[in-house]
Amino acid sequence: MTEFAHQKCISANCGTTYDIGQSHFTCGECGSLLDVEYDWDRLPVPNSLSEFAGRWQNRSNPLDFSGVWRFRELLPFAAADQIVTIGEGQTVLRPAPQVARFVGLPDQRLFLHYEGLNPSGSFKDNGMTAAATHARMIGAKLAACASTGNTSASLALYASATSLFRAVVFVGSGKIAMGKLSQALDYAATTIQIEGDFDDALRLVRDVCQRENVYLCNSLNPFRLEGQKTTAFRILESLDWQPPDWIIVPGGNLGNSSAIGKAFQELKSLGLCDQVPRLAIINAAGANTLYELHARQGVVWNAGQPDRQRISEYFRVLDETNHRASTVATAIQINRPVNLEKALRALETCDGVVRQVSDQEILDAKAQVGAGGFGCEPASAASVAGTRQLVAEGVITSDDRVVCILTGHQLKDPDTTVAYHAPGSEAFQRVCVAQGIHQAPHANPPQIVANNLEEIVDVLRRVG
Ligand code: F0G
Repeated sequence: MTEFAHQKCISANCGTTYDIGQSHFTCGECGSLLDVEYDWDRLPVPNSLSEFAGRWQNRSNPLDFSGVWRFRELLPFAAADQIVTIGEGQTVLRPAPQVARFVGLPDQRLFLHYEGLNPSGSFKDNGMTAAATHARMIGAKLAACASTGNTSASLALYASATSLFRAVVFVGSGKIAMGKLSQALDYAATTIQIEGDFDDALRLVRDVCQRENVYLCNSLNPFRLEGQKTTAFRILESLDWQPPDWIIVPGGNLGNSSAIGKAFQELKSLGLCDQVPRLAIINAAGANTLYELHARQGVVWNAGQPDRQRISEYFRVLDETNHRASTVATAIQINRPVNLEKALRALETCDGVVRQVSDQEILDAKAQVGAGGFGCEPASAASVAGTRQLVAEGVITSDDRVVCILTGHQLKDPDTTVAYHAPGSEAFQRVCVAQGIHQAPHANPPQIVANNLEEIVDVLRRVG
């Protein structure tokens, strides 16, 4: 199948194409991002998305069991015998009535799509299965990424589960959640903790990969984003192929939003989906490059010619003032999102909006997600906090069906959860107050009770 796929530079001024068997990651001519593109006319595409539902009956076939490769005709860059899968994409989407009330929507209008159920506990596995497949296609033996934690956990898992290649992961110092760091170590990846943040780590890993010919697994890698398109397909599948009005995602390096935009652009042009959902990308206020450039300064995709001068100027000022991203949602603590231009394109495809939310709003929303029967890590809750803001503004209305993507598992960052639920504690000071979070209106602190039956019974009676 690979002869019907190629890589193409996204810049309207360039558009250089590359063979699928190469691994450039950015355009050799102009430095822009690359897409994987297909000659759809020469490929077998189903007549309707519901044809994929039949694959569930064939779950003993690993490709049909995978929530990514079940949709393989929509990411047809690999021959079936090259595909690397470890059973990713077994996600659920459910209505969340309690969380709906929190954001100001009717009970049955808000759905949470839980990507934390992936093998490494985050949506990154959707993309890593595709990157691992491409790495295998080109015979890579060493793969690397920079990460705020989840990408490294995912890459480390694919390396240890398949033994196809070894993994080297670069993480910044200080802000990585312990659950994620522990995964990289436990899955036996070479883990390089650099003195710097994610933006520094990504810069370094790009240089290292180029110099040493190492396979790069950050979301610059267009094959990763092909896998991440399937989140959109599974959302449609879970809603019986009726598109929601809104899909809301947290924005970090902007790979996920870019992939969702590409998914809907392709579905639309293939005639497989006539109503494209609107997309909301939610930045943390302490890491808000997309919000600043798009919502405040009006930078848009502009048919592949976004205002690159304005974007460079923005980054120049960040550098000059040594402005660093800072948020309790460490997964999205990123000031230089590599997929910025693709995200601008996704905003155009999906008539999207961008908002920023404070760390206080993120942790309050996270506690509501937990109490509402899901649980997620802080970055994921930005989607719920952002929904609340958009409902208050009247941009999302009570007739809308809204899907928030919970990108990462609750147990990725237990330190932050425990700190929020213990106001007044040393942990609350260290984790919350240090990030400007002074209240915990939804805290559920542990009840400290003496080792005494009567006192325990007293507590139980108070609960009811
Ligand atoms: N949510 C979680 C839990 C994440 O780990 C990330 C990104 C995002 C949201 C943002 O997604 O980058 O596609 O916009 N984490 C990356 C990492 C950067 O290294 O694990 P994005």
